[in-house]
Amino acid sequence: MCGIVAYVGRQNAMPILVEGLRRLEYRGYDSAGIAVHRAGGLAVFKAKGKVREMEARLPARLKGTVGIGHTRWATHGEPSDENAHPHTDSSERIAVVHNGIIENAGALRAKLEADGTEFTSETDTELLAHLIAAEKGDSLIDNVRSVLRRVSGAYGVAVLDGDHPEEIVVARNGSPVVIGIADKAFFAASDVAALVRHTQQVVYLDDGEIARLTKDGYEVTTLDAVPSEKTPSTIELDDMEFDKADFAHFMLKEIHEQPDAVARTLRGRLEPRFSTARLGGLNIEAKDLLRFKRIKMLGCGSAYIAGVLGAKMIERLARIPCDAEPAAEFRYRNPIIEQDTLYFAVSQSGETFDTLAAVEEVQRKGGTVLGIINSVGSTIARTCKGGVYLHAGPEVAVVSTKTFLCTLTVFALIGLYLGRMKDVSPAEGKRLLTALEALPEQMQQVLDREDEFAEVGRKYAHYDHAYFIGRNEGFAVAMEGALKLKEVSYIHAEAYPASELKHGPLALVTAQTPTIAIVPNDDLVEKNMATIEEIKARQGPVLAIAQGELPVEVEDLIVVPETHELLAPVLMLLPLQLIAYHAALARECDVDQPRNLAKSVTVE
Ligand code: G6P
Repeated sequence: MCGIVAYVGRQNAMPILVEGLRRLEYRGYDSAGIAVHRAGGLAVFKAKGKVREMEARLPARLKGTVGIGHTRWATHGEPSDENAHPHTDSSERIAVVHNGIIENAGALRAKLEADGTEFTSETDTELLAHLIAAEKGDSLIDNVRSVLRRVSGAYGVAVLDGDHPEEIVVARNGSPVVIGIADKAFFAASDVAALVRHTQQVVYLDDGEIARLTKDGYEVTTLDAVPSEKTPSTIELDDMEFDKADFAHFMLKEIHEQPDAVARTLRGRLEPRFSTARLGGLNIEAKDLLRFKRIKMLGCGSAYIAGVLGAKMIERLARIPCDAEPAAEFRYRNPIIEQDTLYFAVSQSGETFDTLAAVEEVQRKGGTVLGIINSVGSTIARTCKGGVYLHAGPEVAVVSTKTFLCTLTVFALIGLYLGRMKDVSPAEGKRLLTALEALPEQMQQVLDREDEFAEVGRKYAHYDHAYFIGRNEGFAVAMEGALKLKEVSYIHAEAYPASELKHGPLALVTAQTPTIAIVPNDDLVEKNMATIEEIKARQGPVLAIAQGELPVEVEDLIVVPETHELLAPVLMLLPLQLIAYHAALARECDVDQPRNLAKSVTVE
């Protein structure tokens, strides 16, 4: 999704901005641009396509020490040079980059157009540039404040003014803005990925805050000009973590990082003495946790699917009714929030707009919500009362892999913790704990078989459609397997409960529609065999992901090791991730930045 980077200091801003934009590429975007103060006014360059296409338009010598940059993911208006940010007013005195959506843009734009203002783009952002330029205040920050008080919607913005060439103004409402503090230089960005190369000292803006940055310092106030007390925090991220190392793609690197990532998620959280888990950040006393009668997971995309699996795990272990719901569906149905329901917000980035809005809906109605988050210090993490961090390290590929499996690991820990306070015996707790300890090593064994999965991925790459089926946990694995395949290879993939196949989809099963069957070694194996027979009878090719040989012959069989039954999804997803990756390579898809998708969806 859209990304912002801004720099004010003593160095040439252009290469710093371009490098910052590269660091934001992973979020998904379709055009890019920068604006820099130079002698004689603002210089603005932008282009549809990748950052390198915008870079090709930059003059060799563009000197200026103050500038802003943007990667745009189209919302208002198609991807084009005109719609790319920065946007300026008619005299090109004001330049604005913006993440988010201005909801009352239509009415405000119509008014300006009626007064004779000519717009050059279809964006809601251009409106901000015209409105700020029309303000008559002495300072840029006052002018921006005055405009932002009149707009509704979500924004993170950065603004340059040709009449104030020493400064940048940034503001936040619903879309993240973080200030980076370096030696004689200040940065602003929508994502620490763009700053981490230069500094680890950051200040997060809160909603309704605005900041003025010069090369000598920064000041944060509210939109009502009340000074905000901000304490810088240190981000524990290494620039190298945003590097592909020797891997062809971030997706592949992150798939192979999973054993280490899961080991980090587990570190210090297993309590063998009582066969339970230790979770320091929940901020709820054990006795208070026991009063909850239901649990609900909220998230979007893969985070929602991880919640589906998490709900099944926790329900089995803690014998508390659990379910998961897409965060956007939840927030728009005026949900009944019960005091004895515990909500978990699941989000890699901690910035997904719909998940945040669902959290706020729960909190507004007096409910308790905890975060399962990867990004430390992110908005959802700060909004929740407590929670569990994944510690997976940065995930750069648009599609989620390592954070998905780390989220499942966290749910296993929560299930173990709650279960051991209820009916799970010490012996049963120990069985899960031991399986968790062995999990990273088992994951590595599966990943070592990449060649086998790559061949399968290539073999299935020519199909246009695929079904993924499973029962119970297996169905949730099928959901994530199908999502991975469609996200990166653009093969139409649909997940179905295996039991539902004959109630409709079987009509579409032919020799041209393979089915990927998730067949854990549980008490439903026979039922799954019956479904596979039904598919074979219609000439449908079947690829089975199983935990042992199957009594039925299938086109392809991938066997993963036995583990605790609740952890089987972790091992079964590894081949599915690699199959999706290699199918996408065979189809020459942009694996790390699939078309139309964004890493972090910060708009509705
Ligand atoms: C986007 C990404 C998905 C991700 C979802 C939720 O759609 O493309 O991979 O699962 O957002 O993101 P979150 O950061 O909340 O986990």
